[in-house]
Amino acid sequence: SFSTTASSAHQQPTISRITVIGGGQMGSGIAQVAATNKHEVTLVDVSQAALDRGQGYMAASLKRVAKKKYATDEQAQAQFVDEIMSRVSLSTKPTDAVSRADLVIEAVVENLKVKQELFAQLSKAAPAMAILASNTSSLPIGKIAEHLDDASKRRFIGLHFFNPVPQMKLVEVVRTSEADEAVVESAVAFVKAIGKSPAVCKDTPGFIVNRLLLPYMMEAIRLLERDVASAQDIDTAMKLGAGYPMGPFELCDYVGLDTIKFVVDGWHASGEGLAGNPLFAPSKKLDELVKQGRLGVKTGKGFYDY
Ligand code: 3HC
Repeated sequence: SFSTTASSAHQQPTISRITVIGGGQMGSGIAQVAATNKHEVTLVDVSQAALDRGQGYMAASLKRVAKKKYATDEQAQAQFVDEIMSRVSLSTKPTDAVSRADLVIEAVVENLKVKQELFAQLSKAAPAMAILASNTSSLPIGKIAEHLDDASKRRFIGLHFFNPVPQMKLVEVVRTSEADEAVVESAVAFVKAIGKSPAVCKDTPGFIVNRLLLPYMMEAIRLLERDVASAQDIDTAMKLGAGYPMGPFELCDYVGLDTIKFVVDGWHASGEGLAGNPLFAPSKKLDELVKQGRLGVKTGKGFYDY
């Protein structure tokens, strides 16, 4: 109702404490960017080994930034990295870690059930006003929240970051039909406060970027399947002819062919309004590469060898 929206607009606190669940490439990137911009961050994963890996990602990326910022001054570089890392605490206990959070961002495995079960716990353990967000790239935000109570549905949104998080300037802010306007506004302010640009979008498959990027990648693969041109020439064409920083095959290898297949197959089979859409039809070439374990940069082989 109007009165709920109006009152929560006054109550929605400024976001300063962030808890990020999942210390993979995305989660650690989000933690890094939030900490860089003076937020107090807790990064959560299931084991100390996973947290160590996440911390390693952050340190490596921050060192790159520091080297550019303080070219010859190694002491200033180390100080810069340490200062930012000091704002990131690590935890293996998600419910403890969210107990004082203003914003919880989930970046765990792309599995609906895992996310639903996680948020069932987090929605009870986090402060009542805390914003709950998922960094999912392919699952409907409304589905992840569907078993939560109404109050939690009103504070549940998508916050979709891009890879590499420290470098990519966009965050999609995904608004479900149930989300409070004050929550969306607060999330938009947070995105700006961490130096990113928000794009607000309805809860639809792929939001904006992936809804356009995946058909583009799949069409590039189909050009290759039809032997129209080599992967190198298609990449060169899109980089020099359309100004993309990476060609479609470089981008596929960078994102991971298993990830692309998972998303495309999910949409093509399960629907969300895309069932049977030829844009997301399976590709023999993609299926073969995934079957061979050629998943892209992370396995050393994909469309290219690394
Ligand atoms: N941390 C810190 N800095 C980084 C970094 C990282 N992880 N990765 C790159 N950089 C910095 C480099 O230090 C360099 O800085 P400088 O220009 O100031 O010296 C700058 O970024 C450029 O890096 P490189 O010179 O190594 O290479 P590029 O110029 O090719 O840039 C890129 C790399 C930013 C990754 C660029 O190629 C790019 O924008 N590619 C497209 C990426 C993209 O489309 N991502 C979206 C994928 S889809 C997605 O994420 C959605 C998911 O849901 C599937």
